[in-house]
Amino acid sequence: MANLRRIGILTAGGDCPGLNAVIRAVVKSGVGKYGLEVVGIEDGYLGLIENRMHVMSLAEVSNILTAGGTVLGSSNKAEPSNFAIQQEGRWVRRDVTEEVLANCRNWNLEALVVIGGDGTMAGAAKLIERGLKIVGVPKTIDNDLVGTDITFGHDTAVATAAEALDKVHTTAASHHRVMVVELMGRYAGWLALRAGLASGADVILIPEIPFRLEAVADICQRRSRIGKRETIIAVGEGAMPEGGKVFIDHVDNNSPDPIRLGGIGKYVAQETERLTGIESRSIVLGHVQRGGTPTAHDRILATTLACHAMELLVAGQFGQMVAVQQGMLKSVPIDQVAGKIHKVSPDDGLVCAARDIGISFGN
Ligand code: F6P
Repeated sequence: MANLRRIGILTAGGDCPGLNAVIRAVVKSGVGKYGLEVVGIEDGYLGLIENRMHVMSLAEVSNILTAGGTVLGSSNKAEPSNFAIQQEGRWVRRDVTEEVLANCRNWNLEALVVIGGDGTMAGAAKLIERGLKIVGVPKTIDNDLVGTDITFGHDTAVATAAEALDKVHTTAASHHRVMVVELMGRYAGWLALRAGLASGADVILIPEIPFRLEAVADICQRRSRIGKRETIIAVGEGAMPEGGKVFIDHVDNNSPDPIRLGGIGKYVAQETERLTGIESRSIVLGHVQRGGTPTAHDRILATTLACHAMELLVAGQFGQMVAVQQGMLKSVPIDQVAGKIHKVSPDDGLVCAARDIGISFGN
């Protein structure tokens, strides 16, 4: 047992539905079951750097289970060992880990629950090396963390994306159009794959399976010839043509992970129209995928992962990220997760099922 009295909690990286469910479960079990004080760190690692935190009460986590976002705030621009600050009009990087360690000491934080994706876990791994006691909880709509079969937030994002694809279906049919829907997911295709499968997309384009435009155009033309009035294409933002590169929307220079993807949907729509003569439109679903009420699945997953994190913490099993493996609650060392991406295997069961029912991956 670790005999803890006071712990900190932070949510870092891009937000996602279910973060509040984790915060609630950590505070409820921390205060109620383990008799701890829980300090909420504001805006992820930024609050640790800028010394912004407060002791959380049970009242603060009342009625937040169903709320999207995070009551603590988040930031995806504040990794302590590589923190960007503006000096004389330009961004420079500094290692502010010493400030972070001092703030933890001043607040008597004996251990931290760190909720985040791969960037957050990479930051946690460096803080662990410097002596902080941390347990990680995996979140991201992208589901791209290694060591866990699933992250909370993903199921809600899939439901949101599938609903959008369903809606696009009817307008595409009315106008005999190709509709391309660009979805998030960074360099992993889980979100596009699951949403496309759930909504019966005709083509799914994901980063792990580079596509040929000619193959995509061929599908649209074949469908048109047999009287199918619409073609729905779900494309992950990190998808790319064979021999091509990812499409970059912009570079966010003060972020430790500066590349923001975007533009592949528009490209696919334009090229499909050029090759087929069929009117094509694209939409980018964007941050709507990160919002809203978490699904029941994500609320349960977030709560159980949080409770498992608290068990590890009070047992003194630090340096671990809680995980789900083959339906069981497990944990993996954070340093084995940091900096890696859980990608879709081209022979994943979901890909095979999609191919079995005639969905094309454009290759
Ligand atoms: O990792 C979550 C995510 O939403 C990705 O799917 C997306 O590429 C990225 O974050 C967008 O980041 P930002 O919120 O900085 O635009």
